[in-house]
Amino acid sequence: MPLEVICVCGARPNFMKIAPLLAEFARRGEIHGYLVHTGQHYDERMSKLFFDELEIPRPDVNLEVGSASHAQQTAEIMKRFEPVLLERMPDYVLVVGDVNSTIACGLVAVKLGVRLAHVEAGLRSFDRTMPEEINRILTDQISDLLFVTEPSGVENLKREGVADSKVFLVGNVMIDTLLANRKRADKSTILQDLALEPKGYAVLTLHRPSNVDDPEVLAALLEAFDQIQRDMPLIFPVHPRTRKNLSRFGFDTRLKEMPNFRLLEPVGYLDFLKLMAESRLVLTDSGGMQEETTILGIPCMTLRESTERPITVEQGTNRLVHLRTEDIFKHYRQIIDAADKRSHSCPELWDGKAAQRIVSILAQT
Ligand code: UD1
Ligand code: UDP
Repeated sequence: MPLEVICVCGARPNFMKIAPLLAEFARRGEIHGYLVHTGQHYDERMSKLFFDELEIPRPDVNLEVGSASHAQQTAEIMKRFEPVLLERMPDYVLVVGDVNSTIACGLVAVKLGVRLAHVEAGLRSFDRTMPEEINRILTDQISDLLFVTEPSGVENLKREGVADSKVFLVGNVMIDTLLANRKRADKSTILQDLALEPKGYAVLTLHRPSNVDDPEVLAALLEAFDQIQRDMPLIFPVHPRTRKNLSRFGFDTRLKEMPNFRLLEPVGYLDFLKLMAESRLVLTDSGGMQEETTILGIPCMTLRESTERPITVEQGTNRLVHLRTEDIFKHYRQIIDAADKRSHSCPELWDGKAAQRIVSILAQT
């Protein structure tokens, strides 16, 4: 009998993380993966597009929870996940990342005595105002197997008293997906479609509540983006949370005054990879993109006070940039003027084989 693992996904970055694991289950055959989509993200461009492009099997179940407050969303996922788990009682529940779907399904699993595996365990920003930090700390405390992407994660778990025997430094499944899809992404026509020249534009994404839920913070960021778009096109695929807030805060007219600030709908994975790979630099508050730009060798300005992925700063192309308008433009200029000569390298085990390592460990348990 193959081992049965219920795999959980819910929000955009989960899809890139779950894809190589499901592919590896299918390749090896010792593990049967049963896929549950919580429905935390549901727009075609935040969900289905990635299933199609990354050839992720159709979810066996979609809990269709949709958007709500943290408490309501987390509780609703738990209520809807419990009967699925009771019916199947798998050997493991596997959760990825740090979103509400991660902690909600993790809690349901351990309360029913089902073993929990957490992929991307141990990352810490040490900022408990971030909803993701709470999700990470709690998920790690209740997990039986903790798969870690970078050495800082192993240290964090040790400090928090997690037994060494549960912790495995395996590399990065998000990078598995990147490396597996680079050639396909190369064929994307997004640059021609948007009339962009390689290295002639910057890419921006923004969705952290600390950046986009406060009109004053968002206004200051727009000031900095205005300065940058005067210098080069700034391509901005807009997350639905941010899109909603830009309108709610009355910024639509301001945006019209910035002709080189080009707002797009969220972009598919292959087009987005191509956009990042050919850009001059990336500005973001995304977790995953700090890692992806490290591998692509593209300078990344992370518009946050902290990162849970320190290796991307120590070894990669990432730098933390405080939210002051003048700081953002100063760092932008440093990168453009090539004043920044820091070398960068690929973190250990970010080699496209993280899913293989995880599946080997799961299969031996
Ligand atoms: C969530 C994760 C965050 C992750 C991000 C990736 C939590 C607490 N947050 O943030 O860690 O980095 O996903 O993108 O789990 N919306 C839509 N359509 C959708 C999805 C969302 O319109 O398909 C809108 C809704 O108005 C919703 C808002 O976006 O209220 C926020 O969605 P939610 O999933 O709650 O949080 P994210 O900001 O997406
Ligand atoms: N991404 C994408 N299209 C976009 C923006 C991002 O495919 O328009 C990809 C990006 O390359 C990365 C993932 O989505 O693989 C990151 O998701 P997000 O920033 O939403 O979440 P986070 O990483 O912050 O949790």
